[in-house]
Amino acid sequence: MVGEESPDHGRGFFVCAGATFVKMLHDDEFDVRREAEQASDGDLDRVLRPARFEDFTGQRAAMDNLRVFVKAARQRGEALDHVLLHGPPGLGKTTLANIVANEMGVAIRTTSGPVLDKPGDLAGLLTSLEENDVLFIDEIHRLSPVVEEYLYSAMEDYRIDLVIDTGPNARTVQIDLHPFTLVGATTRSGLLTAPLRARFGINLRLHYYDAQTLTDIVERSSGILNLDIEHAAAFEIASRSRGTPRISNALLRRIRDFAQVKGDGRVTPEVTAYALDALQVDTLGLDDMDNRILTAIIDKFGGGPVGANTLATAIGENAGTLEEVYEPYLIQEGLLVRTPRGRQATPQAYEHLGRTRAAGSGSLFDG
Ligand SMILES: Nc1ncnc2c1ncn2[C@@H]1O[C@H](COP(=O)(O)OP(=O)(O)OP(=O)(O)O)[C@@H](O)[C@H]1O
Ligand SMILES: [Mg+2]
Repeated sequence: MVGEESPDHGRGFFVCAGATFVKMLHDDEFDVRREAEQASDGDLDRVLRPARFEDFTGQRAAMDNLRVFVKAARQRGEALDHVLLHGPPGLGKTTLANIVANEMGVAIRTTSGPVLDKPGDLAGLLTSLEENDVLFIDEIHRLSPVVEEYLYSAMEDYRIDLVIDTGPNARTVQIDLHPFTLVGATTRSGLLTAPLRARFGINLRLHYYDAQTLTDIVERSSGILNLDIEHAAAFEIASRSRGTPRISNALLRRIRDFAQVKGDGRVTPEVTAYALDALQVDTLGLDDMDNRILTAIIDKFGGGPVGANTLATAIGENAGTLEEVYEPYLIQEGLLVRTPRGRQATPQAYEHLGRTRAAGSGSLFDG
């Protein structure tokens, strides 16, 4: 890998540690979310991905329940009830789907909403499942309506209709499936239809991780990568990860490059601070989109309130995505509030972006 230019990044991002450094300084467009998404496909991702409940850190409430349900289903020798996992990107939905299969001791078949465009595709998958297996459908909000409807009877009665033959000989036969568990994942649960949502017995929402939990995750990943990391450095990475383990792991990998090239390989707070600056990672961990949202509210709409649709148009996003994918973190961090009249930037947002509020604006926050 070392010295290879990675072909698909378009922005000339180098995999080689030294080149990464040189390139980064010239590339003022580094976007940690994009970087994290790209980085998540590699071999490293596979080794870092927790495979068991005990390796999965955080999400206490959801995990405690899930453990009970898995244990009970195992004791009864039955398929686990269908599970819906929802929450922002990179918080562990795919990871959890795999953990569920591992803990149930069954196989997992993986597909995604946009890939299944005909009921026939789904039928092929469903009939290939063995007893109690897991079928994981990522981006389940993007299923086409016909496929979704087809899924209903499979989920409910473990039964599907198959059309065999064509033309005048075409007829429908009913096929019994093995009991299975559908695990659906979505970042946009607001787009799920009510009938689909109702067919999931277990509904788990994943939340952003706090810095302490992410520190544990960074330390665990460092252990797997054989990296010598100081606790303060791990905490710094965690604090600037936007509450997201995928971003923590991506930053850790980049910082490892700096530690190797600029230091003695040890991840110290100094090398971490240096690398995070060079990578232009925001002090609050905000990414490019977060900053665009806040900047738009402040610069284009006088700090708000501005309606969600107007704001979405201004940043070139869809209002639903803005609401479900980007805003929750900004709200959690106290940078943005939703008011009946629209979105408003908080004084913390002004401070973070180094802006001063115009007199008379931001009445919501004035005494
Ligand atoms: N609780 C956790 N403990 C340790 N590592 C985690 C945890 N959750 C996620 N990760 C790490 O973060 C990475 C991203 O997680 P995952 O792919 O499961 O996210 P996702 O929710 O499916 O994201 P997307 O919505 O983009 O598909 C994983 O490769 C894994 O290494
Ligand atoms: Mg995923």
